[in-house]
Amino acid sequence: MAHTEKSLQNSSFQLHSSMSKKISVLLFIGFLAWAYQAIQPPPPKICGSANGPSVTAPRIKLRDGRHLAYKENGVPKDKAKYNVIFVHGFDSCRYDVIRLSQETAEELGIYLVSFDRAGYGESDPNPKRTVKDTALDIEELADQLGMGSKFYVVGFSMGGQVIWTCLKYIPHRLAGATLIAPVVNYWWPGFPANLSKKAYKQQLPADRWAVGVAHYAPWLTYWWNTQKWFPCSNVIAHSPDILNTQDKELFSKFESREAYGAQIRQQGEFETLHRDMIVGFGRWEFDPMELENPFPNNEGSVHLWHGDEDGLVPVILQRYIAEKLPWIHYHELKGSGHMLHYIDAMPDTIINTMLVGLK
Ligand SMILES: *[C@@H]1O[C@H](CO)[C@@H](O)[C@H](O)[C@H]1NC(C)=O
Repeated sequence: MAHTEKSLQNSSFQLHSSMSKKISVLLFIGFLAWAYQAIQPPPPKICGSANGPSVTAPRIKLRDGRHLAYKENGVPKDKAKYNVIFVHGFDSCRYDVIRLSQETAEELGIYLVSFDRAGYGESDPNPKRTVKDTALDIEELADQLGMGSKFYVVGFSMGGQVIWTCLKYIPHRLAGATLIAPVVNYWWPGFPANLSKKAYKQQLPADRWAVGVAHYAPWLTYWWNTQKWFPCSNVIAHSPDILNTQDKELFSKFESREAYGAQIRQQGEFETLHRDMIVGFGRWEFDPMELENPFPNNEGSVHLWHGDEDGLVPVILQRYIAEKLPWIHYHELKGSGHMLHYIDAMPDTIINTMLVGLK
């Protein structure tokens, strides 16, 4: 009797234990399925598709079939003496073009084209985007708009970072280039480890995390930037914590985007904000600090503008780059933060300097 009872108990225990193992395995698979779902970005809502936003801007069709939306500013193309392409920053679009005065545009004859970078506004996303692609998009845009064999490029912030890729991949097409507060990648190998570490630590913790996830775990970027448990990137949140005194005065100019603000992320945050972070802070196939002077005979010039109180892009790294590349004309503005091209008259100064100034 006792014997039977014991073996009954035993087998019931075994049954119980094997069931709880099965349940654990099921729960674990369920968790993985949930986690996999949670980190997958939803597909983008393509402009002009059945359920997507409508197309309102002029667009060109690129070699790979993607459309690129653009906006013409300054003087009409047929009056142009200078052809300039402007590259917008993070969480922006073709309307966030440098605010060059119409007087200067007419005086010098500047045809200024801005465009939506892939995924932003009304340009199709490029899920295969690499560091090289935006430079090639720019070249195709210039060719399709008939901007001639050489043209100028200007970029701000994340768009300033793109200018490095123009200097690398299409230098023969450039007449001149300007980088305004260009975003640096802490993992460019040219930086001494102690310097990039110091600069990295100057960021607020939430931004250190956002940038670190984009670099080390790009597959987690969508989840990281949409979860609610940890503080999100201050850049995505437009937090005032990263702005200096001057930036705070200028930020309303950047933020007054009622007319088009809704267009910026309309195709989804992943192919705009998150793709930008993954490419911008990922592993680059070249180091800007190893670039050669594209204008060895002074036939053009390259300018880099940076505020010494920039809270997004540490000035110590920008200074280091400027030191390594003596052919760059480095303009450091005292007391300025990241939004320096919103300072009154600054756009005219920046464009003038590149086109006619320091040649
Ligand atoms: C990094 O190390 C180098 C060489 O040891 C030193 O000269 C430099 O001052 C250090 N930079 C920083 C930011 O600590």
